[in-house]
Amino acid sequence: MQNFDVVVIGGGPGGYVAAIRCAQLGLRTACIDPWINKQDEPALGGTCLNTGCIPSKALLDSSEHYHRVQHRLGVHGISVKECALDLGVMIKRKDDIVRGLTSGVAALFLKNKVTWIKGQARLLSNSQIEVTPQHAKHSAQQTVEAKHIIIATGSVPTPLSTLPVDQKYIVDSTGALDFTEIPKHLVVIGGGVIGLELGSVWRRLGSQVTVLIRGGQMLGKCDESIAAEAQRLLAQQGMDLKFNASPLSVSIKNKTAHLVYRDAQGEQTLKADKILVATGRTPNTAGLGAREVGVQLDDKGFIVVDAAWRTSLPNVYAIGDVIGGAMLAHKASEEGVAVAERIAGQAGHVNYATIPWVIYTWPEIAWVGETTQSLREKGIEFKIGSYPFKANGRARAMDEGNGMVKILADAHTDRVLGIHILGPYASEMIAEAVVAMEFVASSEDLARTIHAHPTLSEAMHEAALAVDKRAIHF
Ligand code: FAD
Ligand code: NAI
Repeated sequence: MQNFDVVVIGGGPGGYVAAIRCAQLGLRTACIDPWINKQDEPALGGTCLNTGCIPSKALLDSSEHYHRVQHRLGVHGISVKECALDLGVMIKRKDDIVRGLTSGVAALFLKNKVTWIKGQARLLSNSQIEVTPQHAKHSAQQTVEAKHIIIATGSVPTPLSTLPVDQKYIVDSTGALDFTEIPKHLVVIGGGVIGLELGSVWRRLGSQVTVLIRGGQMLGKCDESIAAEAQRLLAQQGMDLKFNASPLSVSIKNKTAHLVYRDAQGEQTLKADKILVATGRTPNTAGLGAREVGVQLDDKGFIVVDAAWRTSLPNVYAIGDVIGGAMLAHKASEEGVAVAERIAGQAGHVNYATIPWVIYTWPEIAWVGETTQSLREKGIEFKIGSYPFKANGRARAMDEGNGMVKILADAHTDRVLGIHILGPYASEMIAEAVVAMEFVASSEDLARTIHAHPTLSEAMHEAALAVDKRAIHF
């Protein structure tokens, strides 16, 4: 029987990063994963690389180029006579990027001497794992032994009993990354992150997009004023946002989905070529045997861990989507690093207060820390500094005047409590905010930091000045 210091179950951004860090720290490490990619090959990288972050961002980028050429070049004095779209090429580019990155992880395993065991893992005890092949290219059936086990089995789309996914008419996020034709009408169930990102992709490529939102507002996790402005911009881009709308049933007639939903006015029907169900993700412990060996799960199926990512079973840890919290790749990876360091006797740590969020709509939405609502709920007194991109020279030069930077600082100490950006490349700009919060900066620190001119990041500088009502350029 093969034995290791650490066996990681799951090769997503939580698991593969944990495995590499364990190996760096001198621990004999294996990583078990059954993923088979579109090319029918075993692949590392989990949801993030194969069917999540990377393919969605590849399509978001391609679709944004298409949209720009069609609608946003005129202002620059550029007209394009013929703009044609080859969806097959766009999808293949996405697949090539995914393949390149997933094979990169395999190369990193080789470099760091992490053993990749291909197959499905089932816990037999807190030190033994059975691996079962699911595919001809998987490793042989075997049992491996480990001093420490890290569970990083991720999450899967939450099914909706009224709309069972068939990946033909009713798809989940994986299906919506691989349409072979541009849907004439795409209905998205759920105004969350996936709904808005993939809805944006197909809207830009020409689909009519209707989003059914359960409540009266979308982007509930965002700061309220950013959410309101983002909602306005998405509607302006042609997304039909239907609030207080819940799907009831669907039937397929003449190759068209007929969706019945209820809103404030009563029952309504929509006809769609495709329906994307994007109503959240559920922890993935199917076939893992976790409960059977005594790993405690909560009532939603997430693995329960303590502050050091220890499960209820000695020497068994869990990280990433399967333990809940922010279901984000970078959160999973940071937990992977921290738990590896704990196993090696170091003091691995994750600062959950400074995990950035990014939604890759256009303009992008990014934030870190508290929102206006959360501070109000906690009764913390705060000051707001806000600065619009329409007053920022670089944004104006780019024809990107929508959005703003908003800084929330403690009313008494001036400590930065949260930073929110709606604007071009907010995904990149948020890094400054995260570093500032990690170093416990005050808004005064940001205001006294020199920002290059002309840059989008000057909006961060001006928002910091605006906290004390001394913005220069607005
Ligand atoms: P996963 O990536 O889900 O990996 C889990 C792995 O465990 C899988 O490879 C699976 O095969 C394996 N596994 C499961 N069961 C077993 C078993 N019994 N034995 C062995 N292996 C097993 N996050 C971001 O931060 N930024 C984004 O832009 C972003 N975009 C996204 C877009 C989409 C469409 C989706 C769906 C998600 C997106 N996410 C994004 C979320 C991100 O993908 C997840 O938060 C992240 O992948 C979680 O990492 P993980 O390692 O916990 O799990
Ligand atoms: P989500 O939690 O962001 O949004 C789900 C939406 O569906 C919510 O608005 C919710 O109100 C709605 N909903 C839930 N049940 C419903 C029902 N029965 N009927 C109608 N509406 C319902 O989940 P989503 O978009 O599926 O994404 C899952 C997770 O994946 C995200 O929370 C995020 O953690 C991760 N992700 C991150 C991305 C990023 O970082 N850019 C991109 C995509 C996904």
